[in-house]
Amino acid sequence: MSPPVAPAAEAAGPVRGVFITFEGGDGVGKTTQAALLEEWLAARGRTVARSREPGGTEVGVLIRDIVLHHRGEIAPRAEALLYAADRAHHIEHLVRPALERGEVVIQDRYLDSSVAYQGAGRVLGRDEVRDLSLWATEGLLPDLTVLLDLDPALARARLVADDKPFDRLESEQSAFHDRVRAEFLALAAAEPDRFLVLDASRGSADLATDIQGRVQSLLDAHAEKAVGDAD
Ligand code: TMP
Repeated sequence: MSPPVAPAAEAAGPVRGVFITFEGGDGVGKTTQAALLEEWLAARGRTVARSREPGGTEVGVLIRDIVLHHRGEIAPRAEALLYAADRAHHIEHLVRPALERGEVVIQDRYLDSSVAYQGAGRVLGRDEVRDLSLWATEGLLPDLTVLLDLDPALARARLVADDKPFDRLESEQSAFHDRVRAEFLALAAAEPDRFLVLDASRGSADLATDIQGRVQSLLDAHAEKAVGDAD
C-alpha cells in the first residue's frame, strides 16, 4: 500500500477545518450516524458541511446516476474513474473550501469506498485505486474515518426491509460484498489512528455516543494544535 498522505489538517494548503468520513457496506447505517453527528456538532456551535460521494455536487449527481443506475455494463476501470471524477470535483468545489473556512466536513463515503468496492470488490487492486483517488484529491485524507462494520447478510436484510429497488452495487453477489467488508477492515487495521471501527449491529444511540467521544477528542487535539501554531 502507498504510504498515508497528510490528513486534512496538514495537507498542502491552508486547511483549518476537520474532515470526518463515514464508511462501510450498504445498509450499515452511515447516513443515520452522519446526521446524528451533524446535529450534535451543530448543537455545540460548530459549522458543519455534510455531504456524500458520489453525488455531493451538481456534476456528482449526474455521475451518481450513471454509476448507480445505468442499466448496461460499465467496465470496472470506467467505474473507478467515474467515482474518482466525482471525488475530484467534489473535493475541489465543496470540501476544500469548507475546510479552508474552518468548518467540520462530515462526509458519507470517500476514497476508502473506492479501495473497498473497486479495488477489492471489482478486484482492480488496492494501490492502483487508492493512488487514483489521491491524485484526484491532491492527497487529501480524512482526520477521522468511522467504519461501521456489519455482516453483509445482515446489512442486506436491512436493505430488503427498506423495500427500495437495489442499485448496481447493491445488486452484486454476496462474495463481492464479503470482499468489500474484508477490505474495509484491512484498511482500518493498516491505519488505526485514522479509523474508528464500530460494530454496526449495536443500537444507533450507543454508536452515536462512541462517535461523539472520538470526535470530541479530535476537536480538542485540533484546538490545542491551533493554539500551538499561533504561539
Ligand atoms: P450510497 O450513497 O447509498 O452509499 O451508494 C453509493 C454506492 O456506491 C455504494 O454501493 C458504494 C458505491 N461506491 C463505490 O463503489 N465506490 C466509491 O468510491 C463510492 C464513493 C461509492
